[in-house]
Amino acid sequence: MARRSSFSGSIGFILAAAGSAVGLGNIWRFPYLAAKDGGGLFLAVYLVLAVTFGFALLTTEVAIGRRTRQSPLTAYKRMHPRFKKLGIIACIIPMMIMPYYCVIGGWVLKYAVAFLTGHGLETAEDGYFGNFISGTYEPVVYTLVFLSVTSYIIYRGVNKGIETFSKILMPILLVLILGISVFALTIQYTDNQNVTRIGLDGLKVFVIPDFNGLTFDKFSITLMDAMGQLFYSLSIAMGIMISYGSYVNPKDNLVKCINRIEIFDTAVAFLAGVMVIPVVYVFMGKEGMGASGPGLMFVSIPKIFATLGTAGHVLGAVFFLMVLFAALTSAMSILEAIVSSFIDKFGYLRQKSTIIEFFIALFFGLLVCLGYNLLYFEFKLPNGVNAQILDLMDYTSNNILMPIIAIGTCILVGWISTPKKIIDEITQNGEHFGREKLYIVMIKYIAPIMLLLLLVKSAGLL
Ligand code: PHE
Repeated sequence: MARRSSFSGSIGFILAAAGSAVGLGNIWRFPYLAAKDGGGLFLAVYLVLAVTFGFALLTTEVAIGRRTRQSPLTAYKRMHPRFKKLGIIACIIPMMIMPYYCVIGGWVLKYAVAFLTGHGLETAEDGYFGNFISGTYEPVVYTLVFLSVTSYIIYRGVNKGIETFSKILMPILLVLILGISVFALTIQYTDNQNVTRIGLDGLKVFVIPDFNGLTFDKFSITLMDAMGQLFYSLSIAMGIMISYGSYVNPKDNLVKCINRIEIFDTAVAFLAGVMVIPVVYVFMGKEGMGASGPGLMFVSIPKIFATLGTAGHVLGAVFFLMVLFAALTSAMSILEAIVSSFIDKFGYLRQKSTIIEFFIALFFGLLVCLGYNLLYFEFKLPNGVNAQILDLMDYTSNNILMPIIAIGTCILVGWISTPKKIIDEITQNGEHFGREKLYIVMIKYIAPIMLLLLLVKSAGLL
């Protein structure tokens, strides 16, 4: 059997994992939740959760990967034979996410191409997005291109593919997002010669806690929103961090790596807020902040670019290129979790595994695209969302299967194989594991209880 590939050093791992973590969720969901849930209050809750709950789960998954040297499908069984089924679910989740992530990646690609070829402002016309996704041909072509590029990178392997591309794309992404954020803070809206709204005011809405009318119920919504977001944003509970962890050199300091990944992810989420909230605020006021997801990214934001004229062309191109890189590095990690599972379980070569998953994702990706036209149907999910095929896949994976995996992982590590195994893995070179006690309490008691509440809430059962 071929020797397992590994990242060439901790930088490669940090950038690859941060690439996975930084994705559409940071850009279109974090700012929206922050604006909805009391600005600075949400930020504070999110930060506290990141260094406790997020840190415990991320550490656990990376350590499981490095300890077992296996991908999700086989790693859980290696930790304990009774947890084999958890591995199967942890492999099914990325297989469910991959097709629709590529469809959305295709939409971003379409917008990036439009802006780069000088047709960007057309995307602001009424009905543009709806017409685009309800076409049968274009969305399929863009999905195919996005999926092919992702597959090509994974086909090249851990070093030549994932590591090389992460090392190029992530620094560029950071520079682009910093640039747009600075710009966002300087813009202003002039009405009858009076400057009425400026970007900096929007920033205040984002960072200053709004305790107005805060009740216990409202606070619990903020808490659940922050937890769900953190969970998704760190790419936890879908096998990804196990598979990336399995390529980390035993000599690397995991504590440091994990801290850096969290800092990177949180910084980008924060910057996305600095970028999106002031812009939306300046042009649409406080009411405009209610949009998230495709509506924000593909409808509201292009309208803002259109009002900026030539600057809008440039800004739009930079923005969608940045989003494209964020989506691509996330898609790479989803595909790698699947491909490495096929390699470890069935002994296939990387190339063969990649090609098999390419066709599976293409098939389901086609179904997702057709969900907006030929296969259109009306369906209401238990959490009240009006669903298409994409939403159905998203709901099943994110709201149901992911919390189940995370709870199962806490039970496995907290109670069956014991936290000591994880702690030993992390401190094997004598590293100082500063939050050891916190880690144990988190993984045994607090995280599973919070996750259970999240499962009940996000599944719409409550
Ligand atoms: N963590 C990514 C984000 O914040 C999302 C993601 C989901 C990445 C699924 C990989 C897999 O957007």
